[in-house]
Amino acid sequence: MTFKKNILCIGAGYVGGPTMAVIAAKCPDCKVTVVDVNAERIQGWNTDRLPIFEPGLLEVVQEARGRNLFFSTDIAAGIRAADIIFVSVNTPTKTFGHGAGMASDLQYWEKTAHEIVAHAGNSKIIVEKSTLPVRTAEAMEQILQENAKGIHFEVVSNPEFLSEGSAVRDLLEPDRVLIGSRQTESGARAAQAIADIYTRWVDAGKIITTNLWSAELSKLVANAFLAQRVSSINSMSALCEKTGADVGEISYAVGSDRRIGPRFLNASIGFGGSCFKKDILNLVYISRSYGLDQVADYWQAVIRMNEYQQERFVQTIIREMFQTVVGKRIVLLGFAFKANTGDTRESPGIYVASKLLEEQAVLVVSDPQALENARRDLAGLAGSVEFEPDPYRAAAGAQGLAVITEWEEYKSLDFGKIFASMHKPAFVFDGRNILDHRKLFQIGFNVFPLGKPKLTHFK
Ligand code: NAD
Ligand code: UGA
Repeated sequence: MTFKKNILCIGAGYVGGPTMAVIAAKCPDCKVTVVDVNAERIQGWNTDRLPIFEPGLLEVVQEARGRNLFFSTDIAAGIRAADIIFVSVNTPTKTFGHGAGMASDLQYWEKTAHEIVAHAGNSKIIVEKSTLPVRTAEAMEQILQENAKGIHFEVVSNPEFLSEGSAVRDLLEPDRVLIGSRQTESGARAAQAIADIYTRWVDAGKIITTNLWSAELSKLVANAFLAQRVSSINSMSALCEKTGADVGEISYAVGSDRRIGPRFLNASIGFGGSCFKKDILNLVYISRSYGLDQVADYWQAVIRMNEYQQERFVQTIIREMFQTVVGKRIVLLGFAFKANTGDTRESPGIYVASKLLEEQAVLVVSDPQALENARRDLAGLAGSVEFEPDPYRAAAGAQGLAVITEWEEYKSLDFGKIFASMHKPAFVFDGRNILDHRKLFQIGFNVFPLGKPKLTHFK
């Protein structure tokens, strides 16, 4: 079969895999190839044991794989054949040299630019899908235009807004699709070519076109605003615990104002995930590099508040378990950074586990999807850690339960049975406020929600 367009995606991760699977499913007349340097990942995409867990993803992959969706390690061949190349490689925070701990590490991204130049034989549209510092497209253009082949590359920014755990739904029903391009004739043509992909299933009214820098910066700003809401409500959870106010009631009352809205106002042990922290750090770094220290300090505080919330959670556990957790069996219910994913990148669970291990607790980590990653995250830490997928077995003989991830199934656990199997006094620290605290108290637990009055049996 001859395809109308050849689309390539470099980077088969949490973004590249699901995004291209949806594009392939919705555009059967386009050939979509996803390439990666990681052969194991590519092999996973070619089986029914996909390398990432996302509800509904396997069905979408199965619909298109082998028809017009292909996963491969042959990056050079992919580049040669492509009309449009999405670049969806990782852009983590730099861990070395200038800007370490703040700036984006652009080495993977830059490598793809050089690879494109090396293998391309004709003009192509290059789409920034990765989240990048504002004005990265300029550097991309400079590398790409330095080719002796007389090839023209048009760089377009099309940041991705999907959330893990709901990636397929987010891709199928996005709030918007953002496409930034040069304000030139060829820039507009390239933006239109990308819009034409999405309009197969997205309402044209939801496609926003901007200049390149607005698109790049909007992505960082969207993540910063979302994280800021979480930090804002988390800061209030601390004040609630001092004053007897209930953070759930506050979220509801405040979120009912249509100007504010109800979403992203769930108090938690803190936001995790591979992007919020890295993207805010990047925003802070960029702001400082332009001499905008007040802007940088403002956003830095969102991260500081997130760290404080995680510290507070651990302090509460230690304080309430009589100032010592030495030798005490404590179960982490959940380890993923949010529900419906196996991803543990920047999960608050990592911080909580490492601090409790420092305090010589005996940890049991339970999670329906994330235990493989949890094992890797905690591998280097001294102390006693068990990994147990079954929450009932995990809780047997434990003194404390700490909810780290808001898995739906935790809400319907038989806590009477769990309580009966635990050492007394038994404690619950609900870092997600998902459990029925009154019921737990009635069963006999001492209950410590976030930003709500504690319920204890101690006189
Ligand atoms: P990821 O680490 O899961 O995937 C990136 C992939 O790129 C890896 O498999 C890696 O092997 C591959 N890669 C790196 N260099 C390569 C090269 N030169 N050639 C071929 N492959 C290469 O990362 P991710 O979570 O998919 O994120 C990718 C980008 O998307 C980041 O910039 C991130 O900020 C952004 N983003 C992520 C999410 C999310 O939910 N994870 C959402 C929106 C945007
Ligand atoms: C986030 C954004 O929501 C996506 O739009 C964006 O594309 C993505 O980052 C990215 O750039 O990587 P994600 O990190 O997958 O998506 O998940 P979120 O649902 O945003 O949750 C992030 C963290 O905030 C999680 O740890 C979650 O538990 C926490 N959170 C979220 C709260 O603590 N309270 C809330 O009310 C909402």
